[in-house]
Amino acid sequence: MVKMMQRAFPRAFSAKTSRFRCSSTALQSTLTKPVQQNEHPLPKMPPFDYTPPPYTGPLADDILRKRQQFLNPAVFHFFKNPLNLVEGKMQYLFDEKGRRYLDAYGGIATVSCGHCHPEVVDAIVNQTKRLQHSTILYLNPAIAEFAEALASKMPGDLKVVFFTNSGTEANELALMMARLYTGSHDVISIRNGYHGNAGATMAATAQSSYKFNVIQTGVHHAQNPDQYRGLFGSDGPMYARDVDEIITYGTSGRVAGFIAEAIQGVGGIMELAPGYLPAVYSSIRKAGGLCIADEVQSGFARTGSHFWGFEAHDVVPDIVTMAKGIGNGIPLGAVVTTPEIAEVLACRNYYNTYGGNPVCAVAGLAVLKVIEKEKLQQNAFNVGFYLKQRLSSLKDKYEIIGDVRGRGLLVGVEFVTDRHLKTPAKIETLGVMEQMKEMGVLIGKGGLLGNVFRITPPLCFTREDVGSFYHHISSSFHTYSSCFFKYSCRFSGRCDGLRVV
Ligand SMILES: Cc1ncc(COP(=O)(O)O)c(C=O)c1O
Repeated sequence: MVKMMQRAFPRAFSAKTSRFRCSSTALQSTLTKPVQQNEHPLPKMPPFDYTPPPYTGPLADDILRKRQQFLNPAVFHFFKNPLNLVEGKMQYLFDEKGRRYLDAYGGIATVSCGHCHPEVVDAIVNQTKRLQHSTILYLNPAIAEFAEALASKMPGDLKVVFFTNSGTEANELALMMARLYTGSHDVISIRNGYHGNAGATMAATAQSSYKFNVIQTGVHHAQNPDQYRGLFGSDGPMYARDVDEIITYGTSGRVAGFIAEAIQGVGGIMELAPGYLPAVYSSIRKAGGLCIADEVQSGFARTGSHFWGFEAHDVVPDIVTMAKGIGNGIPLGAVVTTPEIAEVLACRNYYNTYGGNPVCAVAGLAVLKVIEKEKLQQNAFNVGFYLKQRLSSLKDKYEIIGDVRGRGLLVGVEFVTDRHLKTPAKIETLGVMEQMKEMGVLIGKGGLLGNVFRITPPLCFTREDVGSFYHHISSSFHTYSSCFFKYSCRFSGRCDGLRVV
């Protein structure tokens, strides 16, 4: 081990190294060590002609204290010293001190057009001044116009829109519709998927960290067609056999439906193996079920090659659910389905107070217009392609990078301490992420094992941003590996993660 570490980090290695043991304080100091103290020069940020006005509100410590006292104890925050972000402009965020950050996370793949995009903001402000709320019980042009525009983006007979307030609510509605339409209860979802945190959606979600020990009925979790860790590599139809087996052995032979993301977002930007969805859709339909595409993360042009994630798999779902990118950050979700399926709700009342209210509807319409006008799908395709290329080149250099994957601006980088064993490099992922934040770049983290970078910036991200991102991530590797080594890697078994090859 010592010899291997010497080879990996010859400059940082000292004769004393192997005598030390890890301490959590040492590790914490490594993760938060100010960049300025390190030898690697700070990479440059692309120029941006904007200086935020001085911020005079409460500071991070105060907010954190209130959050700990008054807010949901189940939420965690990124970074040892959490960021107080007070302003956003396109692909940049500003903290309380006016420091600019390159946002490569987009509020979890939500900021589609760019932070506070002027056309989206104008639409929201103008509508808010005119009429903020009336309910669906009255007519209003905003919701009708937006529904028509959204339906025009859908293939086939997917023409009826239900507006909701979130992705969870959209998926709950979709699952209920599938059950009502088919008269069956059994649903199949995929392991490692995330669909929300209410009753039916928590049942469909298949990651233990998001599941509480409450009644969750009628969902079977199929094998994940995971192209990196899965048993059958990229052979989609082989994974699809598991769905057939679930139908045969675990149900009456009739099912309500199947729900899946085309690219699992929370699950670590995992694109389903090619050929999987067509095979599964066929099996589900034979068993009388409906196919639901959860487009909460992969919709609204993010994948670049297509407007919707499912289109890359050459399938047409029966129900499509969406949220996040639909509103550029305003609370909004939707379900789109066929007139025939939508009709199942007509035997009762189904409405919610806020879904598609005038302010959210104009925001959604403005998002669609901006995506079109600024060619954001094309941009996601071009810039995403370049981003993947740059990240793949890093894989040749750093053994810690096990996989680079995704589509458009929905990209994941999986970190492993051993490429062969694919051992998750959870601590190292956190360390590099912390370093990147110190240098001014924000990214997300995900995957069941917490060892995947989620890179989901606003779709206005540029090639220059990718260039800067690349320099920042390389620099973070250097900084992290050298200070990790100097301060906390002086313990057995932890040093081989960031091996430079
Ligand atoms: C694929 C997917 N579906 C559903 C949801 C739930 O959406 P929301 O948080 O708006 O309820 C999420 C949230 O991350 C998601 O990623």
